[in-house]
Amino acid sequence: MPATSSGSDGSQRASLPDRGLSRSEVTELLEKAAQPNVDWLGRMASGVNYFIADDVVAVASEAYLRFISTNALYRGYYPGLARFEDEIVDFAADIFHGPNARGSVTSGGSESILMGVKSARDRAREARPQVDRPEMVVPVSAHPAFWKAGHYFGLDVKKIGLDADHQVDLDQYAAAIGSNTVLLVGSAPSLTLGMVDPIPTMAAWAAEREIGFHVDSCVGGWFLPFAEDEGEQFPTFDFRTPGVTTISADLHKFGYAAKGASVVMSRDPEIFRHQEFRFGAPERNADWYVTPSMTGTRPGGAIAASWAVLRYLGKDGYRTAARESLAFIRRLQEGINAIDGLYVMGKPAMTIFAFTSDSLDIFAIAAGLTDRGWLVSRDTWPVPAIRFMQSLGHAPLAEPYLDDLAEVVDLVRRGEISAGEGRADYT
Ligand SMILES: Cc1ncc(COP(=O)(O)O)c(C=O)c1O
Repeated sequence: MPATSSGSDGSQRASLPDRGLSRSEVTELLEKAAQPNVDWLGRMASGVNYFIADDVVAVASEAYLRFISTNALYRGYYPGLARFEDEIVDFAADIFHGPNARGSVTSGGSESILMGVKSARDRAREARPQVDRPEMVVPVSAHPAFWKAGHYFGLDVKKIGLDADHQVDLDQYAAAIGSNTVLLVGSAPSLTLGMVDPIPTMAAWAAEREIGFHVDSCVGGWFLPFAEDEGEQFPTFDFRTPGVTTISADLHKFGYAAKGASVVMSRDPEIFRHQEFRFGAPERNADWYVTPSMTGTRPGGAIAASWAVLRYLGKDGYRTAARESLAFIRRLQEGINAIDGLYVMGKPAMTIFAFTSDSLDIFAIAAGLTDRGWLVSRDTWPVPAIRFMQSLGHAPLAEPYLDDLAEVVDLVRRGEISAGEGRADYT
């Protein structure tokens, strides 16, 4: 343990020791720290990691390490890395059916969403300079990153509720669009219920007004296109949909790449122009510092790992993962729906869903499952529920989970388990 000093509130702060450690000492400490706090794979943790197979992790790790000290800010210095990013963007344009689409790799879903919002705001600044306080219309089911973007970039958020089927209330949505609206938002799918919003209807309203429409496909972007190839049906959300201007899709989720990678795509170069930041000081060349997103230095390792996994899996690998994951999720959902008193909420499109009960205390069920070692995501919205965001690595757990769930439900019905704390977990 390094020496410590005390903060003014009495907290212990570690001091950086004068003497460095040997490599073997560092390795030993790393090994200790890397012991997972929780067995996220074996205990069905939701949304913590996105795992399909060890070989995919090995491919991502090798690529990450080879490019560990490269910086995507300096495209000219790292032509191989620049090509990786260009190809990732091309692959995304291909699967989102955007022949003229442009984009960039960001650090994750939140940054991609921030860029979509900033781009719509800046586009409106040119096209509608009379708007002094821009607004965006956002379903309550959308990710908090839209509220973050509103806070950072000075946009008001018009929050839209859901109807009785947990779908976006389209009347409320249409009524919220006003003369200051510069961006409409939809999810494909949303993070709690896994439902794809009726994007074609919503995006048509953006097209009519020539304002932005951002599709948050952070979780679905590298899954749903391949599920569609496998015959799955859900509302179209990509660039085939008139009115969609930008799409966010995370590589570090169902792209199965290393953490720190997402793409944000614009329908065409003119829309993409508003995402970029160009700095040209008068005493220097115009445009001497141009970045496509929030950060300056961008870690090449995350880009290389994404490219390597995309090339390793190819469309077929993603299709297989989608098919097998959906088979597992259907089994889980059918099993849950078959237990008296429980039901899956809404119409989930992929491996993200929530279940609840009208007759039993869902948090008592959560407590019973936790006691049996399962990692349970509790949610309080739109009603108290247990939430899943699973990947294929969890498939072997479907039967043992369902067996435990059935037993726990019986115990709750008999009053032998009471609710735990009933708090909502984030992930
Ligand atoms: C639907 C959706 N959008 C955006 C995000 C934000 O992504 P990140 O945590 O990579 O910033 C998440 C994260 O889970 C998400 O589920």
